[in-house]
Amino acid sequence: MNQVFGKINSLKGELHLAGDKSISHRAVMFASLAEGESFIENCSESEDVTSTIKCFSELGCKFERDGNSIKIIGRGFKKFIPPKNELDAGNSGTTTRLISGILAAQNFQSVIVGDESLSKRPMMRIVEPLRMMGAVIEPSESGTLPLKIYPSSKINPIHYKLKVASAQVKSALILLSIHLEDESIIVDPFATRNHTELMLHINVEKSEEGNVIRCSNKNYPKPFQMKIPSDISSAAFFMVAGLIFENSEIIIKNVSLNPTRTGIIDILRMMGGDIKISNLNVECGEEVGDVKVSSSKLHNIEIPRELIPNIIDEIPILSVAGIFADGKFVINNAKELRVKESDRIKSLCENYRKIGIEVKEFEDGFELIGQPNNDYVEFESFKDHRIAMAFSILSAKLKQGGVVKDFECVKISNPKFLEQINSLHF
Ligand code: S3P
Repeated sequence: MNQVFGKINSLKGELHLAGDKSISHRAVMFASLAEGESFIENCSESEDVTSTIKCFSELGCKFERDGNSIKIIGRGFKKFIPPKNELDAGNSGTTTRLISGILAAQNFQSVIVGDESLSKRPMMRIVEPLRMMGAVIEPSESGTLPLKIYPSSKINPIHYKLKVASAQVKSALILLSIHLEDESIIVDPFATRNHTELMLHINVEKSEEGNVIRCSNKNYPKPFQMKIPSDISSAAFFMVAGLIFENSEIIIKNVSLNPTRTGIIDILRMMGGDIKISNLNVECGEEVGDVKVSSSKLHNIEIPRELIPNIIDEIPILSVAGIFADGKFVINNAKELRVKESDRIKSLCENYRKIGIEVKEFEDGFELIGQPNNDYVEFESFKDHRIAMAFSILSAKLKQGGVVKDFECVKISNPKFLEQINSLHF
């Protein structure tokens, strides 16, 4: 479906967004592992989290949904039912990589499949370390889905330093490790998002090598109740919009402000963005607060290398802020963008060229110089939700407006995106 955006002059209002996608995936998984009833409030409405719910239903867990509240009846230690069908992770890398760690511990065979995009994404990053732990796991010849996971005669703890900046790889290893009595040690030199560690009450120490994570069956989840804070990665689109549109002010309520995710706020502030945080609180171990953004004159900055893993999902919308800021916008050290829901470096560069921006593409990033021209453009979403949402905001800022193709993919993270933008202008 093509979505047309006319020029919007200003955006004003208050938003209550659904729960953070990363935390929701984990809440559903950990509740499914725990034996008995757990309750989740403000769960993500994303199709990705629905994929996780479907996989665990297939494994015998029960879900009762009432709007964004879910009651989950989990199975307990190694008590999942062998799935009758392939487990379909849809478009979701988080579902695939995290569930692999869980399935590697079970006494039955399972197969994980996914859509066209997910089927191209690299899985050796989890297969190799899971195999080091004794998992019997077979990807396709090209190291992708389908993943076949077989019962293993012996799973061992691991001492492993992450090779890629991936919370998904880290979490897959933690989720297999919590099935063992002996302790595993996983070192994360990249400070990737730490929701798994927080939710499983895992001991993490800082060392010169990075975060040292120690986990075992002591961290196996018990039933819990949790209210999930709003998704900062969904909020980022509205933060940038509030800054780049004139006479605008947007308040986003109860946003997840976990420091492993707030790099986008730090960078937008360094760029001159007027962002105020109030009502700071801690809910279920996660920091939350209200975020108010107001129109600002932005300038580009050198983005600190160490913040790249923290902002990896926000780079598409950050680049939109970049083309309305003074100076050139440059991203380096972000090769991971090539293996997201689309090759995001290629997707962004192709779209920016269409509006006359001078684009340089690097293996690990890109550079954007100049202002958008007045050509009426149809942007490709590449069926990637974050590309679709970034170019929706950009279209609404252009004099001539714009079109976003295959717009429906926004449902992967935020099915209410359009409704939310429309609620902010009159
Ligand atoms: C996620 C981790 C990140 C992120 C993804 C969600 C998670 O992926 O891009 O959208 O929930 O753990 P990587 O860990 O592969 O970088």
